[in-house]
Amino acid sequence: MTTSTTPANPTIFSGIKPTGEKTLGNYAGGFSQYVRYQEEGQAFFAVVDLHSVTVAYDPRTLAAQTLDLAALLFATGLDPARATVFVQSHVKGHAEGARLLASVTAYGDLKRMHQFKEKGEEQDFVSLALFDYPTLMAADILLYGTDLVPIGDDQRQHLELARDIATRFNSRFGATFTVPEGRYPEVGARVMDLQDPTRKMGTTSAEGGTIRLLDPPDVISKKIKAAVTDSGREVRYAPDKPGIANLLEILAVVTGTSIPELEASYADVGYGPFKVAVADAVVTLLEPVQARYHELRGDEAELRRLLATGAEKAAAASTGRLTTAYERMGFLAP
Ligand code: TYM
Repeated sequence: MTTSTTPANPTIFSGIKPTGEKTLGNYAGGFSQYVRYQEEGQAFFAVVDLHSVTVAYDPRTLAAQTLDLAALLFATGLDPARATVFVQSHVKGHAEGARLLASVTAYGDLKRMHQFKEKGEEQDFVSLALFDYPTLMAADILLYGTDLVPIGDDQRQHLELARDIATRFNSRFGATFTVPEGRYPEVGARVMDLQDPTRKMGTTSAEGGTIRLLDPPDVISKKIKAAVTDSGREVRYAPDKPGIANLLEILAVVTGTSIPELEASYADVGYGPFKVAVADAVVTLLEPVQARYHELRGDEAELRRLLATGAEKAAAASTGRLTTAYERMGFLAP
C-alpha cells in the first residue's frame, strides 16, 4: 500500500486501445473514470494506437478505429476544454521514451506479465512489441509526471511495473519521474463476462458475454436477460452468486447507486425483474451516448481538429521530461 497523499492539482493520465469494440468493462474501468478524473486535475487521455499493433490487427481499419474511439471518448463526456485527448502515435516522445525506459526494464519482469502470457497464447506470431508493451505504457504515464492513473483491475500489474521502472530510473540517473499511483473504481474494477462470470468481460469474449457500448438497445436487453445466474432467487452480492454479483456491479456502475442500496431494493423481486431493471439502466445510460457518438463521428474534420490540438498540448507537456531523461542518461545533446 502507498501512503503518499495526492497533490492539490494532480496530473492524470490514462490510455485506451482503439482496436476491438469497447465494452461495458471499458466503461467501468475506463470511460466513466476518465470523465470523473478530468475534474480532478490536469488530465491526459491517449488513444493508444501503438499498443494496438502489438497483436494481430487490420491496417486497413486502424485509422478509422482511432477516430471511432476518439468520438466515443467525447461522447461519454470528455470535455476538450478540460482534458487533453490525443492519439499516442501523434506524440513521438512516447515511442522514444519507451526506448529509453527499456534500458531500466528487467527482462524477467516483462516475462512474468500475465497479459503477455495470455495474449501471447492467443497469437500465431508473438512480437517483440507485445513483450515490451508495458515499457511503452510506462513511457505514456511517466513522460507527463503523472500522479494518478485511472484504470481497471486488469492493468494493475502493468501499473506496478511502471512504478518500478520509474523508481529504477530515478535511483540510477537521479530523480526524473514521478512514481504514479493507480486509481481503480470501487465497483466495476473487473466487470465479468455475462455468459461466464468467472472471466473478465473483454473485447474477445463470446458475443453473448459482452455488452458493447455501441450495441443496439434491443441487443443489450437480450444479452442481459440471458446472463448466466444461479439456481437461487435472492438478489445478493455474494461469492457463490458470481452472475448476480456481476449484474449488481454493473447496475451500481451505471446508476451510481451503492451495492447495499441495490440489494435492499431488489432482494426479493426475483432474477427476471432484476435483469429487466439492469437492462433498462444500461440502455438509459447508453442511448444518449450512442446518439452523441454518431453525431461526433459524422464530423471527421472537427474530430481531427480536436485531436491535433490535443497532440500539441500533449507534446508540450511531455517533451521537457523526455529531454531531461536524455540528459540524465548522459546522451550528447543534438
Ligand atoms: P484497454 O484498452 O484494454 O482498456 C481500457 C480500460 O478499460 C479497462 N477495462 C476494464 N475495466 C473493468 N472491467 C473490465 N472487464 C475491463 N476491461 C477493460 C482497462 O483496465 C483500461 O483501464 N494497457 C491499457 C492501455 C494503456 C494505458 C496506458 C492505460 C496504454 N498506455 C497508460 C493507462 C495508462 C489497455 O490495454 O487498456
